[in-house]
Amino acid sequence: MESALDYHTARTLLEWQVELGVSETIGDSPVDRYSLPDKATKPKKAKAEQIVPAKPRDVDPVDIARRAAKAVTSLEHLQAAMAAFELCELKKGARNLVFADGNPEARVMIIGEAPGRDEDREGRPFVGRAGQLLDRMLEAIDLSRESSVYVTNVLPWRPPQNRDPRPDEIGMLKPFLERHVELVKPEVLVLMGNISCQAVLAKRGITRLRGKWDTALNLPAIPMFHPAYLLRQPQAKRQAWADLLELKAKLMGS
Ligand code: URA
Repeated sequence: MESALDYHTARTLLEWQVELGVSETIGDSPVDRYSLPDKATKPKKAKAEQIVPAKPRDVDPVDIARRAAKAVTSLEHLQAAMAAFELCELKKGARNLVFADGNPEARVMIIGEAPGRDEDREGRPFVGRAGQLLDRMLEAIDLSRESSVYVTNVLPWRPPQNRDPRPDEIGMLKPFLERHVELVKPEVLVLMGNISCQAVLAKRGITRLRGKWDTALNLPAIPMFHPAYLLRQPQAKRQAWADLLELKAKLMGS
């Protein structure tokens, strides 16, 4: 094909194209792509659906426990709601939920700390050595869990190696304890040991607190030495006896 350009013009244009980056020729004549008819627009490839992992919503175990506890209207439901609560790590290491024992119509409700090995195995609170001592203490003032006392713990699951319950565990399970007390409606609470005082009085220092009536969960509450402490420190039984008499006097007087 004869070129309409003279040699020098053609060479100048070629050099200009090389300068622009042209490195190879793909046709003898240029293609004006602007004048070509529009090609059917290719359907865009569907973008692979982006799988964005759901952002774990902030779970507030205390709030969930509070809602679950609020929803129950009987002790059976409360026990079931606690058994269904999956946000406390202690549950994973425990054999049983230790809910309560005794008479739910009782005037006295005892709140202990947490199940130990024996309680975990049996699924009942205060069945080990401390529990046997507790029964003897109650008997001494004519009380018994068969008829006149209801017993539970701050935590329904045994902490590993019987370590002290942590504040976050106490806080998480407290709504269940509060509901427990509301459903039983005892006249008085007995708070066994520091953990129990910490949970419902927000106070520690059992040696100072014991034997003095306080108010917990809108009820008269008396802190006492924990029977497990009395097993280790038998000399403290004298004070425990005084506290039992104080409890008896309260029940006789009211
Ligand atoms: N100590 C507690 O506080 N509760 C139990 O159930 C057993 C031991």
